[in-house]
Amino acid sequence: MKIISILGSPHGLKGNTAGLLRHVLAGAESEGAQTDVIILKGDTVLPCRGCDICHKKGRCVQNDDFESLKEQIAGADGLVLASPNYIFNVSAQLKAFMDRCCGVVHCMQFWGNYGASVVTSGGGGDEPIVDYMNHFLITTGIIPVGGVSAAMSEMPEGGFTNQVQEKARTLGRRLVEAISGSEVPSDINQLRNNFRERMKLLTSYRKEEWPYEYQYWKEHMGWNG
Ligand SMILES: Cc1cc2nc3c(=O)[nH]c(=O)nc-3n(C[C@H](O)[C@H](O)[C@H](O)COP(=O)(O)O)c2cc1C
Repeated sequence: MKIISILGSPHGLKGNTAGLLRHVLAGAESEGAQTDVIILKGDTVLPCRGCDICHKKGRCVQNDDFESLKEQIAGADGLVLASPNYIFNVSAQLKAFMDRCCGVVHCMQFWGNYGASVVTSGGGGDEPIVDYMNHFLITTGIIPVGGVSAAMSEMPEGGFTNQVQEKARTLGRRLVEAISGSEVPSDINQLRNNFRERMKLLTSYRKEEWPYEYQYWKEHMGWNG
């Protein structure tokens, strides 16, 4: 079982977010998962140019790591998104990745995967960001199993409280259990199915402009519309 993490902090593995993510991954590894962390630096995944080529051809024209990252995620079982709270939202690095997933979202191309979200901040207010990240996961087809966050002002010097560490490890273990049991909570299933109907209509409506996406739906999403 493979779990990929995408870390959107310029502090990389030395940062607070990586510290919290490490506990989530330790929980997943304790249940047998193999994990990999991909750090988004400024040029790993560049911002979307809004050219729509991905909708037409299924690939981005920009020469960076996005396409390879997309393949790695599609081939894995789980995806953990991790970001510092930057002005009440995800970092620009993670947002660039999310925006570049516009075609992935139209095709719900990560369908079948499971996920979770991790946030750290200086002073808190992280829950809406975790919710936003998990909502994004649903729009890619991924089933989120939960999230964890920590305000560093409330943490002991250089670490996390035992309670936060345990919450993070439990999240990692839950991710592995969900992948193993193919469990889909009914509320998330409903949200994901509603979004699926919306994307089906969108790609059908735009089938002349976005032939790749229309074809993808026919070939991979069991739809002959
Ligand atoms: C550009 C920037 C914006 C930030 N915005 C907020 C914020 O709105 N609220 C907050 O509590 N902390 C904010 N912080 C603090 C970071 O979220 C916090 O230090 C976080 O743990 C950093 O994680 P990292 O070490 O993984 O990069 C901000 C930090 C930076 C650099």
